[in-house]
Amino acid sequence: MTARRLDGTAWAARLRAELEPRVERFTDLHGRPPGLAVVLAGSNPASEIYVRNKIATVAQHGCRGELFRLPGTASVDEALALVERLNQDDDFDGILVQSPLPEGMGEDAEQRVFDAVDPAKDVDGFHPVNVGRLVQKRPALVACTPLGCAELLDREGIPLRGKHAVVIGRSDIVGKPMALLLLHRDATVTICHSRTVDLPAVCRTADVLVAAIGRPGFVTADFVKPGATVIDVGINRLADEAEVQRLFPEGSAKRRQFAEKGSVLIGDVHPDVEAVAGALTPVPGGVGPLTIAMVLRNTVTAAELRARAPI
Ligand code: GUN
Repeated sequence: MTARRLDGTAWAARLRAELEPRVERFTDLHGRPPGLAVVLAGSNPASEIYVRNKIATVAQHGCRGELFRLPGTASVDEALALVERLNQDDDFDGILVQSPLPEGMGEDAEQRVFDAVDPAKDVDGFHPVNVGRLVQKRPALVACTPLGCAELLDREGIPLRGKHAVVIGRSDIVGKPMALLLLHRDATVTICHSRTVDLPAVCRTADVLVAAIGRPGFVTADFVKPGATVIDVGINRLADEAEVQRLFPEGSAKRRQFAEKGSVLIGDVHPDVEAVAGALTPVPGGVGPLTIAMVLRNTVTAAELRARAPI
């Protein structure tokens, strides 16, 4: 069997296009477009790319997207002051502080800064108010990556009611909100993590398996029940030739790409899974574009909600 490819790029284009009438209506009604402020502290190369994509996407679809940079040496107080200024700025409906923050800001910096974002502008869905609303199944703004995965499963018509969904990874950004979105679709949900006993055996019972661990090619074919749907959230850049040779067969497209560019992208799912799964998201071109589409959707949703009443 070769898994059906779940085309995140195509779905993302459609989801973004569906938002355009909402952007137009908001802009006509309020005399300004929905606005997103993105905060980037430091210059993590992966974050630079994500942030550029997020701003370009909202701008392409008629919204205002603006980048606010802080130096890598900035203190957590500087980040908090910037967030406070953006909270007060009525032209911005959404605020997104790109993670990770520089290590120098301290261990609890991320939590403090995310907590400081006005919940009504929290397009990442990281604020405790928005997490609580999701837990209680009355979501307003939900974390973009799991929201994109859920949208993909819905649009592809992949059944979830009564099915066993296994999420590998318990992060606040992906694993936990993903589990809740699956639960709210009536799946029976298991969250696995680094302490789970016999992880492959648990995963093999999954009808839908979501891999969000951040370890290249970690989910091998023995984790997957034949015919299962596999969602690969990982985006890992491999620059090590031995590792590329271990993971990809000679003559494969990824080997050719590596020879040309010196690195390749791989998810958390091993290439061998394609022969076992029923459906699979590719990397790149799977979950990544859907995350960006959900940043746009949450920006529009935040603008509409703020225009009506505070969350
Ligand atoms: N870093 C990796 N993923 C995300 C995300 O979804 N939001 C933010 N703010 N930072 C991230």
